[in-house]
Parts: sequence; structure tokens; C-alpha cells
Amino acid sequence: MTVTADLAMSLDGFVAGTDVSLDNPGGDGAEPLFEWIHNLASWRERQGLSGGEENRDSELMREWFDVTGAVVMGRMMYDTGEEFWGDNPPFRTPVFVLTHRPRRTLVKQGGTVFTFVTDGIHSALDQAKAAAGERNVDIAGGASTVRQYLAAGLIDELQLHVVPALLGEGVRLLGGLDTGRRTLEVVRVVDTPLATHLKYRFTR
Ligand SMILES: NC(=O)c1ccc[n+]([C@@H]2O[C@H](COP(=O)([O-])OP(=O)(O)OC[C@H]3O[C@@H](n4cnc5c(N)ncnc54)[C@H](OP(=O)(O)O)[C@@H]3O)[C@@H](O)[C@H]2O)c1
Repeated sequence: MTVTADLAMSLDGFVAGTDVSLDNPGGDGAEPLFEWIHNLASWRERQGLSGGEENRDSELMREWFDVTGAVVMGRMMYDTGEEFWGDNPPFRTPVFVLTHRPRRTLVKQGGTVFTFVTDGIHSALDQAKAAAGERNVDIAGGASTVRQYLAAGLIDELQLHVVPALLGEGVRLLGGLDTGRRTLEVVRVVDTPLATHLKYRFTR
């Protein structure tokens, strides 16, 4: 069982733009973070769309779907994704949403079940591990949620899809984060014209 986090990041370290809100899910200026994803065959397949590029980027996306058995996310990521994901969200696994506001479990088509967890990051992770079986738990976002898991030393592998773009401002993932001087090793680097995919493992 590996706990992963997997995010798109600009070269200057941003994972969302400015003024993130329900009407502005990625935030202002965030488009370059996600452009590499839209035409991937594996991503389109999960949206119920045909076509798209079968390339290395698409393989990496498919790998994430294959190895992930449960997902943890923050309520902001859930709220900003809810409408876009629709009735058959791409996860097709249990998803545990961190929030301070209790809400009934939502069962969607295709195996995605959203459970709202109000008793903290450890509880959400324990529930996700129990649900994931042999597969990984991914801490999907947003920044505030992933930062809490990083600070608590609970993430084993971090994959960053660094896009060749400078956002200039927005939400940072890693700045000012106290990880207790954990050490990292490089697991894999995949470089494509769309993004540089960097995968690290925390060794301590
Ligand atoms: N670059 C990428 O790959 C990537 C990936 C995912 C998301 N994103 C972006 O990230 C942005 C959203 O991230 P965000 O950092 O603003 O928010 P977030 O982490 O998605 O959600 C924050 C909310 O989660 C709840 N929460 C977090 N920690 C909690 C805890 N310990 N206990 C209880 N509730 C907790 C709180 O909700 P309540 O207010 O309900 O209590 C909090 O307001 C979006 O713009 C999205 O596009 C980017």
C-alpha cells in the first residue's frame, strides 16, 4: 500500500491560479496547468469520450487510474469538480472528502462513492486505506489538503507534472512547508513536449 500525491504544477511552483472559487475552479491563469490532460486518450476514456492521443502522457494518466484504489480530497476540490465530473466521475473508486460540514454519502455511477469525513486527515486516510485493498491511496488535492499530508509525513510518493508555463501568482504546493527534513529519491523522470513528469519517493 503506497500513499501518493499527483499534481500538475507550473515551472514556478503553482498548482492553482488566483481567486479560486466555485465559478472559477482552477483559479485565474491556471489553464496551462491542465491543458496537457484534455486530449489524452486515457483521460477522455474516463470522461466517456472517444479519441485523443495515445502517447506517453496518456500512459501515465492510465497508470494513475490503474494503481489508485481510493482517493482523498479537500472539500474545495470536491466542490469545484462536482459539476464537471457529472454522474459518472472519472475516479471509479471510493473518494473521501475532508470537510468540517457533515454530509450524506453520495453514490455515483461507475464505482465512485463520495464519503464526507469530518474527523481529520488521519481518519480520512485510514478509511481510504481500508477501501483501497491492495491498490494505492492518492491524496488528490487541493494544495491545502496535500500540504497537510506532506507535513504529517503521510505521503510515500509524490508525482509532479511540471508544465512549461510560468503562472506568476496563484496557489503554491510546496513553499514554506515543514516536512521535518524528510529525504527524497527520484523514482522516475519522463519528459515529453507537454510536461516533465517527476516522481519522487520519501525515504525517511
Ligand atoms: N494542480 C493540480 O494537479 C490540482 C489538483 C487538485 C486540485 N487542484 C486545485 O486546488 C484548488 C483547491 O485546493 P484548496 O487548497 O483551495 O482546497 P482543498 O484542499 O481542495 O479543500 C480545502 C477544504 O477542505 C476541507 N479540509 C481541509 N483539511 C481539512 C481537515 N483537516 N479537516 C476538515 N476539513 C478539511 C475544508 O473544507 P470545509 O470548509 O468544508 O471545512 C477546507 O476548506 C482548486 O483550484 C483545484 O483546481 C489542483
